[in-house]
Amino acid sequence: MLSGDFPREPLPPRAARLRERAPLLERETEVARISAAVIRARAGDGAAVAIEAAPGLGKSRLLEYGAEEAAARGFRVLRARGTELEGGFVFGVILQLFERALVSAEPAERHRLLTGSARVLGPVLDGDREVLADVDAFALLHAVYWLASNLAEKVPLALVVDDAHWADPLSLRALAYLAARISDLRLLLVVASRPGEAGEGSEPLREIALGPAADALYPSPISVEGVGELVRSSTFEAAPADGFVAACVEVSGGNPLLLGWLLAALGEEGIQPTDAAAAEVRHIGPAPVARYVSGSLARLTPFARAVAHAVAVLGEWPDPRIARQLVGVSEGVLAAAAAELEVAGIFGGEALRFAFPLVRTAVYQDVPAAERADGHRTAARLLHGTVAPDRVASHLLLAPGEGESWAVEALRDAADQAFSLGAPEVAMRYLHRALEEPPAPEDRPAVHAQAARAEVAAGTETAIETLNAAIAAAEGGRDRAALLLD
Ligand SMILES: Nc1ncnc2c1ncn2[C@@H]1O[C@H](COP(=O)(O)OP(=O)(O)OP(=O)(O)O)[C@@H](O)[C@H]1O
Ligand SMILES: [Mg+2]
Repeated sequence: MLSGDFPREPLPPRAARLRERAPLLERETEVARISAAVIRARAGDGAAVAIEAAPGLGKSRLLEYGAEEAAARGFRVLRARGTELEGGFVFGVILQLFERALVSAEPAERHRLLTGSARVLGPVLDGDREVLADVDAFALLHAVYWLASNLAEKVPLALVVDDAHWADPLSLRALAYLAARISDLRLLLVVASRPGEAGEGSEPLREIALGPAADALYPSPISVEGVGELVRSSTFEAAPADGFVAACVEVSGGNPLLLGWLLAALGEEGIQPTDAAAAEVRHIGPAPVARYVSGSLARLTPFARAVAHAVAVLGEWPDPRIARQLVGVSEGVLAAAAAELEVAGIFGGEALRFAFPLVRTAVYQDVPAAERADGHRTAARLLHGTVAPDRVASHLLLAPGEGESWAVEALRDAADQAFSLGAPEVAMRYLHRALEEPPAPEDRPAVHAQAARAEVAAGTETAIETLNAAIAAAEGGRDRAALLLD
């Protein structure tokens, strides 16, 4: 049996330690400001907290603190997370935030929550995003405001959004709209993001951070003393030498996440914290996560490695069935592989979920490029027809074209949806990809025309060229006339 191939020896304890939490160092100010926002919001003076910092500086930890603090003070806490593949999933983060609250509500309560301007969200939250096509953007933003306000009426409400730089721009606009009107509500909004990674979402994120009821936190790297403390509290048998700590500061730049992985990588290699070992620390250099991840993946069983690769390609929260099909293993083998990855510190918390976003990035980079592209293509094929078209399209964007009609169809459906949700730039991306697939000759004019429409709506400089190409590709005078009149 396949699972008999799994190693029986426990993995090195240092790897397991990556999942344990070091005490939160040097964040007294941030923690106090988050607590103050919670207290203000509870008193009816709504507050937003925007946490912005580079990967690994503790945004999620601070967010967690905010969520726990709010829950402890009687808030209802609703959470969502942006994920790298889902920036094109229009309205995805807002759905994540509110879906569960509505699904679990009694009919009378549900009716109360969806009264007034919030009503338009009813079918959307039931999974029918198509109806958004008939709602204008302002009404949509207003609806989210009303839903949050209805929710916050009885019990104070905390909305907590992690990795907002990967959230879809429409959701961020809804959150910014809400943040600007938060003052009269018993509402706390906490949003964490990495700087410079939000693309189109950066404007609404900026609005949230600079709003009148907002506090913006920019946690910085921890000090030399802090690094020393973390090194000492890690599991070396001997007390670390000063030169060793200095090298750790240099390589990690005071970034707690990098430091954790650096120490793990050193531990795996059996390096002791002496002055002489400082050279080894510097040798690992600024990529300890990648180094640790590729080192441990190489030591894991082939199934565990394949599962890690598959989950990195599928993105967060993969459907376990799809993950199994992608790797071609049974349920039992998948579970054993996931357990192995968890012990190695690569998965953490929930099933099939990476311990940290940087770990997903490192695993993703560990997948050979051709295999990665293939994986996205297969993922799209497996998902096609079972999930919303934009989830399929997000994979196709990362896969080579093979001239298949289902792929063109999925991309066109996703584009239609994005277009009607007021995201013509997203629609444009999908349609350019559809043209690269390429479509069957008889479908080409229609795809060209759809792309031209999206480009015109998005106001891109190449709109005229695409329009001309569409007109050239259109067959017969009627098609051409239709395009010109559109
Ligand atoms: N101030 C701190 N003191 C001790 N440990 C910390 C501190 N900040 C972060 N850590 C640890 O560093 C790791 C990374 O923290 P976290 O996941 O919160 O970072 P992040 O900013 O959310 O990163 P990303 O942008 O990748 O999501 C965690 O293991 C966390 O416990
Ligand atoms: Mg985080």
